[in-house]
Amino acid sequence: MGRLDGRTALVTGGARGIGAAIARTFAGEGASVTIADVLQEEGQALAADLGTRVRYQHLDVTSPDDWTAALADTEGSYGPVSLLVNNAGIVDFGTIEEQSPQSFRRVIDVNLYGAWLGIHTLAPALRRAHGGAVINISSTAGLMGYANLGAYVASKWGLRGLTKTAALELAADGVRVCSIHPGPISTPMTADMDDSMTAAQPIPRWGTPDEVAAMALFLATGATYSTGSEFVIDGGATTGSMILTETDTEHG
Ligand SMILES: NC(=O)c1ccc[n+]([C@@H]2O[C@H](COP(=O)([O-])OP(=O)(O)OC[C@H]3O[C@@H](n4cnc5c(N)ncnc54)[C@H](O)[C@@H]3O)[C@@H](O)[C@H]2O)c1
Repeated sequence: MGRLDGRTALVTGGARGIGAAIARTFAGEGASVTIADVLQEEGQALAADLGTRVRYQHLDVTSPDDWTAALADTEGSYGPVSLLVNNAGIVDFGTIEEQSPQSFRRVIDVNLYGAWLGIHTLAPALRRAHGGAVINISSTAGLMGYANLGAYVASKWGLRGLTKTAALELAADGVRVCSIHPGPISTPMTADMDDSMTAAQPIPRWGTPDEVAAMALFLATGATYSTGSEFVIDGGATTGSMILTETDTEHG
């Protein structure tokens, strides 16, 4: 018996990377899953691989019409949606001076507005399904600043704040809303980044999409006393990096 038997989930950005691992994990625990993405080929291939209770649907998270269709089609295929994973995201690098207004707005649109639109559209369905959960994939960039990532950082802090408001608004109908804050995870998004960013972590390696998916499964199932909360999965990256030597302590 799976821990998500009888449940229906919609996972944005589910065609690859972290979203694909969450779709695979949820399906493996018995959920029916809509992989909602703009990458049709990868999304359809993954859905075919995961079996008959997994479907691909084109969804640009910035399109209200796409969200309406995704909800109707998912419920038409599988019944009430009780799990929403807002995972779709993009990154664009540049200092605040360098980044173009268009680039800034695009990152905010996908990472923050897209998640808001998802909750906005699915909230009535999630309330009806009672016992539902929304899982927002933020980042350690939603807990601290990173140079050259202003739009991304702003979007991920925004998503963290949106999580808390949604948790307050949906609690009365038994819907829990939490954010996950991954550190460096090996996915296509980070394929060009080197190991220097993980070297100083207490756990000095890249995380895997499956490790994030395990956290998402916990939030969908076991985390029955958590809402509005942040769940960090970063190899200890945000724990702090100062190493005090004897000389340092002598000088305070
Ligand atoms: N990889 C990391 O180190 C890391 C760390 C912290 C947070 N995250 C977050 O995790 C999430 C997944 O990232 P990933 O590393 O798997 O990246 P990825 O690039 O491998 O996957 C992102 C997915 O989002 C989809 N997507 C992009 N724009 C979309 C849109 N407008 N509508 C629908 N789908 C869209 C892409 O097609 C892709 O399938 C993102 O929100 C990212 O910000 C990733």
